[in-house]
Amino acid sequence: MIELRGIVKRFPGVVASNGVNLTVHKGEIHCLLGENGAGKTTLMRILYGLYQPDEGEILLNGKPIRISSPRAALSYHIGMVHQHFRLVPTLSVAENMVLGLDEGTGPFLNYRQTYKKISQIAEKYGLIVDPRARVWQLTVGQQQRVEILKALYRAADVLIMDEPTSVLTPQEVGQLFSTLRTLVDDGLTIIFITHKLDEVMEISDRVTVLRKGKAIATVNTPETNKAQLAELMVGREVVFRMEKNEVKRGERMLVVDNLHALNDRGLPALRGTSFDLYEGEILGVAGVSGNGQRELVEVLTGLRHATRGRVTLEGKEMTNRSAREIVDMGVAHVPMERKTMGTVPNMTIRENLILKSYRQRPFSHGMFLDNKAAEENARRLMNEYQIMAPSIDTTVKVLSGGNIQRVVLAREFSGDPRLIIAAHPTYGLDVGATEQVREILLAQRDRGAGVLLISEDLEEVMTMSDRIMVIFSGEVMGIVDAEGAKIEEIGLMMAGERKQGVESASTEVA
Ligand SMILES: Nc1ncnc2c1ncn2[C@@H]1O[C@H](COP(=O)(O)OP(=O)(O)OP(=O)(O)O)[C@@H](O)[C@H]1O
Ligand SMILES: [Mg+2]
Repeated sequence: MIELRGIVKRFPGVVASNGVNLTVHKGEIHCLLGENGAGKTTLMRILYGLYQPDEGEILLNGKPIRISSPRAALSYHIGMVHQHFRLVPTLSVAENMVLGLDEGTGPFLNYRQTYKKISQIAEKYGLIVDPRARVWQLTVGQQQRVEILKALYRAADVLIMDEPTSVLTPQEVGQLFSTLRTLVDDGLTIIFITHKLDEVMEISDRVTVLRKGKAIATVNTPETNKAQLAELMVGREVVFRMEKNEVKRGERMLVVDNLHALNDRGLPALRGTSFDLYEGEILGVAGVSGNGQRELVEVLTGLRHATRGRVTLEGKEMTNRSAREIVDMGVAHVPMERKTMGTVPNMTIRENLILKSYRQRPFSHGMFLDNKAAEENARRLMNEYQIMAPSIDTTVKVLSGGNIQRVVLAREFSGDPRLIIAAHPTYGLDVGATEQVREILLAQRDRGAGVLLISEDLEEVMTMSDRIMVIFSGEVMGIVDAEGAKIEEIGLMMAGERKQGVESASTEVA
């Protein structure tokens, strides 16, 4: 159905696509796999008309076509769900759906008809969302459904999805996969970018592996396995196991006591959350997304107001301090949304790497910024964290998703933080980089930092943590030692069943 031939795309200092050939059959789920910066997103942006290739051609059903814009792509029935969503948060689902269409917006829009059409598509493919809801009120999983609906609303036959599962909970991934299967049964073709080999094995019919801007192999999924794919991707064997050192946990460090907070909709999100975190331990937080994880992270990092309760770090009051003060107390934060919160996209790598420390030595001398120190810092961290970019003065917005994550991690982990709050730290990273980040987190714990690890990847929580805390509906259902923890027990707590002996905070006698 689609054939890309000899696609070349050059950016200043990088050849993102270096003569890529790719054939996609009608009705298949075709995975694109490759390390961070291999050129997956670039290739798909070319197919979606966001970039023009410098060389090469695109054939649709055997005929050469020119895709000059996303609008042109849609006229060929090619739709895309981006790695970072492009919805307008203040508009409703329905408004987002018709945005940019000739159907018009505002007073001229026939909402009744739009709602009807949305519900029809939504029902058919199991993509349930409220068309009247504002996008900012939706969870990430729901926003993704809107993005998919948006493409289907525009009659896409080919759906390109850029790392759709990295933001989803296991349950949501299951739902997405069943949606994708219905879509394929209905004759759609899906191109799916992911770093997760289990997903490739589960969902795809064929896989193409990209390495350094070239398609190096296309294989039939039933004829391959994870080890082979990993090796194709990184050019070496990959170990999937983590070595964890024995660490004796130290002093009690973070004390969270009866914390309450509201979510963006003004509803209770944390309802008496209490726990302790010790030096030299990783406390993993498991739970289905939307159960207060986001609000917990935001309260602990000074981005959200606690309405009740108390947080102390090494005996010092941390409740409702500003983000800046909390950073100065030695708290590092790997945020969930790194494009918007983790980095300043229009600034360079060098600038982004000193965002937190530019007021301190060695970067600041009185009123002046020491450029030399900033430069050395950037070079060292780029090397240490293998940030792939032409130079330290490359703006962060042009980096690949995984490389943006590396910039955030490099900045947050330098300066030996006391407490690390890591929300989905391996989100969007390739297998090699995931391994590296996990090693870094373990090293931080080994030197005595406390780590709060929020991840919806249960396997990650189970392998990385010393203790696992499960939260449900803003309350702690239980905390268990990771060693010997049973996945069934955790699953039950994730569904709202309290561990024996754990009482509800809301019925607690004052
Ligand atoms: N607009 C741009 N300007 C300059 N360089 C770019 C631009 N877009 C991508 N690049 C560079 O092209 C290369 C390939 O990037 P791309 O985003 O396609 O990688 P990717 O395979 O999607 O990686 P990831 O898994 O990290 O998302 C990277 O080196 C990236 O920095
Ligand atoms: Mg990408």
